[in-house]
Amino acid sequence: MSNVEKTDRIVVSIRKMCADDLPVISELERQIFPDPWSESAFSEALSEEEWGALVAESDGTIIGYACYLIVGDEAHLTNIAVAEPFRRKSVAKQLLDHILRVVTEAECEYLLLEVRPSNTRAIAFYQKHGFHLLYRRPRYYHHPIEDAQVMVLYL
Ligand SMILES: CC(C)(COP(=O)(O)OP(=O)(O)OC[C@H]1O[C@@H](n2cnc3c(N)ncnc32)[C@H](O)[C@@H]1OP(=O)(O)O)[C@@H](O)C(=O)NCCC(=O)NCCS
Repeated sequence: MSNVEKTDRIVVSIRKMCADDLPVISELERQIFPDPWSESAFSEALSEEEWGALVAESDGTIIGYACYLIVGDEAHLTNIAVAEPFRRKSVAKQLLDHILRVVTEAECEYLLLEVRPSNTRAIAFYQKHGFHLLYRRPRYYHHPIEDAQVMVLYL
């Protein structure tokens, strides 16, 4: 876990991700994840009706993003990330709050996600927001191979 200290919350503006954002998002994704989504994966998320994709901006700069999927009464948080210098300032919280409003309005019953068990700071973030461990999915991740911890928040 990185030793990012908790600091003052920064208020970000949250808006829908658009095609022009993809180079910046892809660069952040490559910096943040060992197994990054490709630009085309984000592009697909923008074009599919059941997908949602958001960015968090501060002073006109994208510092975080999140993607989610709604299928029937099930919502899936597929991706959430904040640029390292802006962590522990409630940026992810503001993205999650926005998604929770959307999926609640869509009458979803629960929000699911997968997370690497080694990603303790993300697990701390999810637990803080009421997610519980549902089960472990063996060898779900590649690069490096790792189980997934499937977590759920009942809405
Ligand atoms: C997980 C992540 C999205 C959290 O973003 P964030 O903007 O820093 O989170 P917030 O500031 O909204 O929430 C912080 C809360 O999360 C938890 N948390 C986040 N980072 C933590 C850390 N380094 N140590 C301890 N707790 C941490 C705490 O509960 C914290 O609350 P606190 O600050 O009041 O103690 C961010 O660390 C990140 O981008 N990580 C890399 C990408 C990633 O792993 N995404 C999840 C993939 S499943």
